[in-house]
Amino acid sequence: MTVDREIQKRVQTLHGLLNQWASEYYEKDQPTVQDSEYDRHYAELLELESLYPELVTEDSITQRVGGETSSELKKVTHTIPMLSLGNAFNQADLIRFDERVKKIVGHSLTYMVELKIDGLAINLRYVNGKLMQGSTRGDGTVGEDITTNLKTIKDIPHQLPEPLNLEVRGECYMSKQSFVTLNETREQDGENVFANPRNAAAGSLRQLNADVTAKRNLSTFIYTVAQPEVLGMATQEKALHRLDDLGFHTNHERKLCANISEVWDYICYFTDKRHDLPYEIDGIVIKVNDFKQQNEIGFTVKAPRWAIAYKFPAEEAETTIRSIEWTVGRTGVVTPTAVMDPVLLAGTTVSRASLHNTDLIQEKDIRLEDVVMIHKAGDIIPEVTRVLVEKRTATSEPYQMPSLCPTCQSALEKIESEVALRCMNPMCPAQIKEGLNHFVSRQAMNIDGLGPKLLEQMYERDLIRNVADLYRLTEEELLMLDKVKEKSANNILRAIEVSKENSVEKLIFGLGINHVGAKAAKIISAHFGNIDQIMAATKEELNEIETIGPIIADSLEKYFEKIETQQLIQSFKELNVNLTYLGVTSATLESVESPFKDKTVVLTGKLYDYTRTEAKEKIERLGGKVTGSVSQKTDIVVAGEEAGSKLAKAEKLGILVWNEKQMITAIENSSKVE
Ligand code: IVH
Repeated sequence: MTVDREIQKRVQTLHGLLNQWASEYYEKDQPTVQDSEYDRHYAELLELESLYPELVTEDSITQRVGGETSSELKKVTHTIPMLSLGNAFNQADLIRFDERVKKIVGHSLTYMVELKIDGLAINLRYVNGKLMQGSTRGDGTVGEDITTNLKTIKDIPHQLPEPLNLEVRGECYMSKQSFVTLNETREQDGENVFANPRNAAAGSLRQLNADVTAKRNLSTFIYTVAQPEVLGMATQEKALHRLDDLGFHTNHERKLCANISEVWDYICYFTDKRHDLPYEIDGIVIKVNDFKQQNEIGFTVKAPRWAIAYKFPAEEAETTIRSIEWTVGRTGVVTPTAVMDPVLLAGTTVSRASLHNTDLIQEKDIRLEDVVMIHKAGDIIPEVTRVLVEKRTATSEPYQMPSLCPTCQSALEKIESEVALRCMNPMCPAQIKEGLNHFVSRQAMNIDGLGPKLLEQMYERDLIRNVADLYRLTEEELLMLDKVKEKSANNILRAIEVSKENSVEKLIFGLGINHVGAKAAKIISAHFGNIDQIMAATKEELNEIETIGPIIADSLEKYFEKIETQQLIQSFKELNVNLTYLGVTSATLESVESPFKDKTVVLTGKLYDYTRTEAKEKIERLGGKVTGSVSQKTDIVVAGEEAGSKLAKAEKLGILVWNEKQMITAIENSSKVE
């Protein structure tokens, strides 16, 4: 079948527009269209390409996506090579390092010790204070140009407060939490998971589509300047302070140590403490603090002699796989988990490890009764590192993948382009139970006291078949369940009752409609105002909303077309569940007059009259945006008691600082948006 000429022409037009807009936005820093317009056209192209795969060309903007490294990235020759570090693995190595440097300097010296962030080394070049180029380390001499991608990372300043010509270096990383969330989504979407936050960061950064980078929640810690003399500072300690002042994110766990024994104490402290950090570190970097002394000590061809990286021992454990369990998720994706002999790993006892998907089992040739090494990806998720093949018995056989759903026994399907097996039966009890868990979760209807075990019991005893049945539960029914006494039954009923008053976006998110996350649910609800309007909306009308692309629009239309959905919504109406949007609509926001309108606000320190969440909600209702870190883009910092580094940074950057009282006055004096 040949594709209609009109469609071919439209695809070509979209290529032209999107390439032009992307280049204006990312390369020239001069966008000519709103982001939403770009997103809408991008989404249209994606949809046309999915409908007519024959129109997908290699150079399409949509194809320059994905976790893989792109060899097409422009190369950059570093003006000053990006060196690596020599390694130390124990205290003796450190003592030798200390002796070596002291011998050259001739007397004792101080060390700056810093966390060795496990990410990707980056170089940022500023000319006249403006960010001109960002690159990867590459082989140290030649790296890749990732300027457009780095510009999407929120904590990297595009403009410095001073017209400096300098190159700063640091680590780009993904937090443990963002890594876990990203992998969960990828797993449920049938995509390959990233092995660790470092890979996830690298995959998100070293590719041609900056839109993907922008969505990946990357952060940076800047730790050095290529030519320290540019900053006019004498020590690493002062240089880091100066980098803070210039608006960079530096890591504040650093410590100035008077001798190598203090360095060792720091290492011992972080050997345990590192599991509590929100990002992964793979060691500690020890640097001679004084720049003059650094020069005196010098470099080898590969690394400075004045610094060394202490590497934590790999946290691995050996155990044996006894069985593989398959679990059905809310979307029908069936995921395997290895059940193993319990073993201590990075501070906890581990007996289960996700195997993610069938491809992974095949690639690693994981079999029952295999002796394996396990580690924790992102310091959190236990995973099988490798099989100790030499310990296999002669009778060992390749693992047989299941062909039937472990819950409803319907045939599993492997969808092309996915790595996952899926149960396609929408009435599969496992999918329904997962759907119930999702419905009561915090971001959805937020019904306290209904854990997975209780919901499972309710389902098994036929008390609930769908999410609306929750609103039909009686005290007598709850009292029939294990471990439910009168008090907890009443608490549950009260929580269910309270949830009826939720604004409708929580219900829409809770329904678990494919591709409709909490953010999309809110945007749609704010736009249409109530569920009847949303249900009546056509795909085209949905698609007209900023940030709602055709994939979400299509999914919503399909979901609300279903007769079961319509019956479910009718039940909610009969049960008096609120189906209208109670937040601020864009029309109301337009009419708000407030000092917070269109302003970026950071809350820091202890607040007394409001909780952080309350203050955030109030400011957002008044048209402000509340973010977590202070940067050039921050307009107001509200400093409560004991405000620390964020306040200091705001003062250094000359940002307007208010105390809690000033914030409250501003809120109270703003026009009401109830
Ligand atoms: S200083 C001259 N400080 O570790 C080399 N490196 O193996 C200067 N790294 O590629 C490096 N955290 O990407 C330094 N606080 C830190 C670091 C750090 C992570 C990485 C860096 C480098 C690798 C060296």
